[in-house]
Amino acid sequence: MENNTAAFGRMPDGGAQVDQITLDNGWLRCQVLTYGGAVRSLEVPDRDGRPVDVVLGFDTLEDYLAQDKYMGAIVGRYANRIAGARFTLHDKEYVLCANDGPNSLHGGAVGFDKRVWTAEEVKQDAVTLSLASPDGEEGYPGNLEVRVTYQLYQDTLRILYWARCDQDTVFNPTNHSYFNLSGHASGRVEDQHIRLFSDHYTPIGPGLIPVRTADGDGCEMPVLPVDGTPMDLRRAQPIGARIGEDFPQLALAGGYDHNWVLRPNSGLPAAMAFSKNTGIAMSVHTDMPGIQFYAGNFLGGCPAGKGGAAYGDRCGFCLETQFFPDSPNRPDFPSCVLRAGEEFHSQTSYRFFCRDSIDTP
Ligand code: BGC
Repeated sequence: MENNTAAFGRMPDGGAQVDQITLDNGWLRCQVLTYGGAVRSLEVPDRDGRPVDVVLGFDTLEDYLAQDKYMGAIVGRYANRIAGARFTLHDKEYVLCANDGPNSLHGGAVGFDKRVWTAEEVKQDAVTLSLASPDGEEGYPGNLEVRVTYQLYQDTLRILYWARCDQDTVFNPTNHSYFNLSGHASGRVEDQHIRLFSDHYTPIGPGLIPVRTADGDGCEMPVLPVDGTPMDLRRAQPIGARIGEDFPQLALAGGYDHNWVLRPNSGLPAAMAFSKNTGIAMSVHTDMPGIQFYAGNFLGGCPAGKGGAAYGDRCGFCLETQFFPDSPNRPDFPSCVLRAGEEFHSQTSYRFFCRDSIDTP
């Protein structure tokens, strides 16, 4: 056991101890909490070699307990929304917690983000956290075992997801880190660049639930092309460049908060981001079929952040790799069903490097 684990706090009413594990590989430094499996800090060298903490987080466990932003956390069992907080699997209906109007968001009332995980294996540059989610928890079927590994590998934070269930179930884990590549305390992110390697997105209706929309020929379309819309982020551009345009999809979500459809097996990243202030660029790679780009539109109202930093709206952005929202109710989307006894494996990585501009290869 490495000596990089420290007590961070204790859950209310004499509950479990929460630990913080500090990972360091000489290039990146990352603090992980057993509460929510959250990434609390991630230090990355800027263009002058100075460490910059590029994720938002809090100083105390009390602040984590007081916020509802899924700050840095592992989200599950089902990241994003399930319409009507219910789904049917093998002719049986499962009723979930409606914690986002009539819909279920990010696993329900007490999702993975609010659980205390067990640190199974702690190394200098990696930690594996585990969680057991009993049959029926938050309405989901099956006893689910989950393991998430955070690993620093050279200039990359890798997140490896593993799970197994004793019944067929649905499963869609993600990480909900809020990035600010100018530094977590540097304010709004609209001047930071974003690039998504995606030609289509899943259009949403009320409650941010994906809808089928009719195309010009009256055909029902589960996904829409980004062409000619502010959803086209295929060329790097400041997050704020088009976020305020008069476009119904943006009005529904208060800005970017949508699922983009990734190009399978393209070898390309899913996304890139860049801060001209620090020169820090980030590329995101994943084997998941979608990515939620959330511009932190409703981040305001959380407790003061690390060192007293004020985290208002759009002071951080999330790039949540995932199955498409509401997949359990959408047979036309890639399947999020995890079969009994089968092993779920998935990997997402966030790579950091410095550039003059995001278009520089
Ligand atoms: C969702 C947002 C939601 C936020 C909660 C994001 O993943 O896409 O719609 O408000 O999580 O903090």
